Amino acid sequence: MAIIAPSMLSADFLKLGAEIEMINNSDADWFHLDVMDGQFVPNISYGMPIIAQMKKVATKTFDVHLMIEHPERYLEDFKKAGADYLTVHYETGYHLHRTLTSIRALGMKAGLSINPHTPVDMVADIIHEIDLLLVMSINPGFGGQKFLPLTYNKIRRAKEIITAAGANTLIEIDGGVTLENAGDILAAGADVLVAGNTVFAAANPTAMIAQLKRAGK
Ligand code: DX5
Ligand code: ZN
Repeated sequence: MAIIAPSMLSADFLKLGAEIEMINNSDADWFHLDVMDGQFVPNISYGMPIIAQMKKVATKTFDVHLMIEHPERYLEDFKKAGADYLTVHYETGYHLHRTLTSIRALGMKAGLSINPHTPVDMVADIIHEIDLLLVMSINPGFGGQKFLPLTYNKIRRAKEIITAAGANTLIEIDGGVTLENAGDILAAGADVLVAGNTVFAAANPTAMIAQLKRAGK
């Protein structure tokens, strides 16, 4: 069954406590937390202080997605804030091997994300350093965008690379995931589904999470 990671970017921040409780009590597995700096992506979201506050009441894994330049400067800060998985972008790094090994050395799972234009083959040589490969299925920066179909080939290729290497890397898909495409995304080889708009714009978010959890089965 898929790992479901609702993206809190689409939550109602005026009732964040209630939204976290809803996720705690749902079939969701992780909290997906999007950090944006207005440089790497054209939007600014939230950072360590908010994540640290959320950690006090959340009962599930914190999957922190850094869409920021120079992420290597902040690894320890996000560990302190409560990150379990910490994902940096391929496009931000000259020394990704060092960054990924540093994330693990701090006791977190190391994630690497690739934008739609980045070939998935670029990660092959460091696949053993990556616990989570986050394949962006939109251009990052905003929730509620449309899933890019070119993602399917990338998922299949990522799966081949991981299998050939005998690695345990999970494949996560982020952007435009819906109940309609979830089955196809999982069939292509994905393990983790991020969903923002699909969950939080639903009439019943808890029921939507339950449906996503059962997608592709
Ligand atoms: C966008 C973020 C996503 C976003 C997904 O850059 O990385 O996590 O919240 O939102 P939806 O599921 O609405 O496309
Ligand atoms: Zn994200």
